[in-house]
Amino acid sequence: MDILTQLKEQTKQKHLEVEANSGISKIFDHSITVKEYQDILQNNYNAYYTTESAISSYFPIESIATWIFNDLEKPTSSNLEFRLDNNHQALGAQYVIEGSLLGSAYIAKEISNCHNLNSLKPQSFYTRPDKARINRWSTFKKQMQDQSFTKQQTEDIIAGANKTFDLFNTVFTNKVVD
Ligand code: HEM
Repeated sequence: MDILTQLKEQTKQKHLEVEANSGISKIFDHSITVKEYQDILQNNYNAYYTTESAISSYFPIESIATWIFNDLEKPTSSNLEFRLDNNHQALGAQYVIEGSLLGSAYIAKEISNCHNLNSLKPQSFYTRPDKARINRWSTFKKQMQDQSFTKQQTEDIIAGANKTFDLFNTVFTNKVVD
């Protein structure tokens, strides 16, 4: 089974948890307030920033946290405990970050239907993705498909992805923001 299929299958449950814990249902039912929206952004900022910092010890990654930072009215930063142990765990974390853009493109479509969010300036994170943003997922998939991995490396990749989903879930459920 190829690495992308394994990643998808073995993180499926955690993805469902992230969806359920993210607070995003109020975007889909259009009832969200600006304060609730800012809290979602702040949680996302903390999780992306922490993950991207850990990945960047191994290789560069184009930051999504900086887009979220632009959308925050009063950004705060928090130091979260998170460690990736090797390059392959970092690849697993990258899978989560790149894949998350598929979900955020889908969420972005609903923002304009949320009446309480009508007065927001143009958003950088939940926004209609441009070509460069759309291409990130196919570029990442190709990069993974073009490599072969040993059993140990595969285990590390999947562990890195699961750790990252756990981080997002912890941030979303502990409400790191006030
Ligand atoms: C909170 C609401 C979210 C919703 C509604 C959502 C929804 C989705 C949807 C519909 C897809 C599939 C898109 C496609 O195949 O074209 C997807 C893929 C993905 N999402 Fe989410 N997502 C959410 C949050 C997240 C978050 C916060 C993360 C990361 C922590 C994440 C990680 C991923 C990954 C890794 C994939 C790729 C799965 C694969 O094909 O291997 N998602 N998401």
